[in-house]
Amino acid sequence: MRYYTGVKDLGNLQEAVKEALEIKKNRFAYKHLGENKTLLMVFFNNSLRTRLSTQKAGMNLGMNTIVLDVNQGAWKLETERGVIMDGDKSEHLLEAIPVMSQFCDVIGVRSFATFEDKQKDYEETIVNQFIKYSGKPVFSMETATCHPLQAFADLITIEEHKKVARPKVVLTWAPHCRALPQAVPNSFADFMNEADVDFVIANPEGYDLCEKFVRGAKVTHNQDEALAGADFVYAKNWSAYDDPNYGKIISKDMSWTISAEKMALTNNGYFMHCLPVRRGLIVTDDVIEGPNSLVIPEAANREISAQTVIKRILEGLQ
Ligand code: CP
Repeated sequence: MRYYTGVKDLGNLQEAVKEALEIKKNRFAYKHLGENKTLLMVFFNNSLRTRLSTQKAGMNLGMNTIVLDVNQGAWKLETERGVIMDGDKSEHLLEAIPVMSQFCDVIGVRSFATFEDKQKDYEETIVNQFIKYSGKPVFSMETATCHPLQAFADLITIEEHKKVARPKVVLTWAPHCRALPQAVPNSFADFMNEADVDFVIANPEGYDLCEKFVRGAKVTHNQDEALAGADFVYAKNWSAYDDPNYGKIISKDMSWTISAEKMALTNNGYFMHCLPVRRGLIVTDDVIEGPNSLVIPEAANREISAQTVIKRILEGLQ
């Protein structure tokens, strides 16, 4: 593997999950792969889980790790070509990328959607510039439209906890006070569409996701109907995708918050969320703290999804 930006890069998904579960049993077995190799993690946006889990994954593989917070301590970067750089941005990404690549063997990139230009967001202009100009293997640590390390960890978590061969998995929108990207739900949908699950997406009208990721999955605007008999409830907020409301909040309907009453509709289902989560908006305290909450195992599996991806990248460099 040279690049990891989506589910397609994993090839056979069942085999990838199997490999991840093997790695989880002995996470230091591949320490030789990363010897004298350096992982650079470039963050344009904040992170807790991705930062810690990816760095830990690199260290498990014997790598040296460098974390660069672009907006805290580095020069502010211009990302557009053809601009007169007379503002607050001192360096262009087109110089910064090849400079960064001098000091590493593998690059992870986090760069969220800006919501300024839907086409640019969905063309993934930032991560694709890293792919084009770094000359190094590049993987997504959440880009404008996808968060495939999170979705891979989510699938691993579902595999570990499922009680039936083909569980019902519901991705449901929930209310939030800020306009959030569609990256997590896009990737979750992309993975679930490839996995052996009965997948349903529930969201209010006006919040339908991009068809490229929905790919014919069942979509309903009735959350209670979706939750009926669910084995896994994956709650997440996202802003509107469809024009003219791209990147905007068009509803804060609190009847979509995941509460004990909502979970009672499920098949004693598990609650999932990628974190960070706003309690009282997305989910009530009792649900997230309850025995069916998988939010901590999901976060723990971020180390395993990252390690599986970086291991495959390192194997490609041997
Ligand atoms: N879920 C996730 O990616 O968390 P962070 O934003 O804290 O990395």
